[in-house]
Amino acid sequence: MSARVIEVDEFDLVVFGASGDLAHRKLLPALYHRFADGQMPEAARVICSARRDYSTDEYRNWAEEALNEHVSDVEADKLARFLKLLVYVKVDLGSGDGWNDLKAVLDDRPDVIRAFYLSVGPDLFGTICKGIGATGLVTEKSRVVIEKPIGKDGASAKALNETVGKVFEEHQIFRIDHYLGKETVQNLMALRFANALFEPLWNAAHIDHVQITVAEALGVGNRVGYYDTAGALRDMVQNHMLQLLCLVAMEAPESMNADSVRDEKLKVLKALSPITSGNYDKLTVRGQYRAGASAGGAVEGYLDELGEESQTETFVALKAEIANWRWAGVPFYLRTGKRLAQRVSEIVVQFRPIPHSIFDDEAGDISANRLIIRLQPDEGVQMKVMIKDPGPGGMRLRQVPLDMSFAEAFKVRNPDAYERLIMDVIRGNQTLFMRRDEVDAAWAWIDPVLEAWSNSKDTPKSYTAGTWGPSASIALVERDGRTWSEEG
Ligand code: BG6
Repeated sequence: MSARVIEVDEFDLVVFGASGDLAHRKLLPALYHRFADGQMPEAARVICSARRDYSTDEYRNWAEEALNEHVSDVEADKLARFLKLLVYVKVDLGSGDGWNDLKAVLDDRPDVIRAFYLSVGPDLFGTICKGIGATGLVTEKSRVVIEKPIGKDGASAKALNETVGKVFEEHQIFRIDHYLGKETVQNLMALRFANALFEPLWNAAHIDHVQITVAEALGVGNRVGYYDTAGALRDMVQNHMLQLLCLVAMEAPESMNADSVRDEKLKVLKALSPITSGNYDKLTVRGQYRAGASAGGAVEGYLDELGEESQTETFVALKAEIANWRWAGVPFYLRTGKRLAQRVSEIVVQFRPIPHSIFDDEAGDISANRLIIRLQPDEGVQMKVMIKDPGPGGMRLRQVPLDMSFAEAFKVRNPDAYERLIMDVIRGNQTLFMRRDEVDAAWAWIDPVLEAWSNSKDTPKSYTAGTWGPSASIALVERDGRTWSEEG
């Protein structure tokens, strides 16, 4: 089965930080795939900009290496055609040299869609936006893409958004949360709003609780410098995990229109019950990995990687509650961490038990239904239901999965989140991007947690690399008579 592709209009995409890691691992491979699938027109240009002294040919060689490394099925003819779309322009942000060269390239065709992708640290957003503004590069069809971290707290996020907002209007700003581009995350919306089955049960009367796990087997590796200033709460919860929570919990939007979806997500964020100094110890757990084993080999602890003392958390588990009519009393347990037992991201919706059993003891236990939305790896959706054990000999019940593995159901390559998101930028569709007020509302909930942690004398609980995190995380859900899902 081949995926349906709608070609986008001609565009110029300017990538700042084009010699960096994100461009190498994600952006160039994503663009190549969209080109190879026929979605990117031959007249598109990817104008790659960085500080290095590359000629366009040298940059193309660098890009070719990136594609050979990160794309498993590169086709020589398509690769050669794709590389021709790349143009390198050196811009030195320190001295300001190069802005006019960039202008000269863009001035060739001022009327096509123009997107600026800021694949750089947030400390450079201001300089780049100012440069774009001062050089007069913003046209009516221009947009800008920014990556997380958008701030390290509410105040810094506000300052960043204001900086970008001086040059671009909100409808031109695309704040990437790559989790929103993952296939299964979008499928969550399809599941909820394209089926009549779930929505009537999607509330406190029928759902016992929700678990969201984003577990990584890898450690922080060479990002330790950045990571130590962030920690798991800022790095994963403020953005990706809260976005997932919003998609599970939001009311049905009027349509898939960007503002309709974002309005509903915003309401969820605003309804989150605060976690503060008064209750953080019951609702949150911080952890930090020590040496252990991963993928069969010994691995260092976080502090060994960092080379100094640190209180930064590499694991967080928390119990969030949404104070509204639909969700009052339904906990949303969130956990994420580095160096956990395996890489698995999933959302588990645990329904309530049946109100009364008509079966006798011989039938065995009746487990409550459970909907499992697996983001990675092995994307898919499973519904756990009770059935009768086949065959004669009495009525015995057991729980089986109604399984829909996407890899088996659809024999197409699962596109990377960036493929979808970059094409959405070109189309001007902001549905899967965070609006400024969402970012503010997410920080407004996160800031008091950070403050409670920093005011407390507790330190992150140590856990062995390769396990499921500190035992306090298990206790967090067990106190409520529940357990973490072990589907992984
Ligand atoms: C990033 C975080 O946003 O998401 C990383 O900064 C994390 O620390 C990554 O590893 C996880 O993304 P994915 O798509 O691999 O689950």
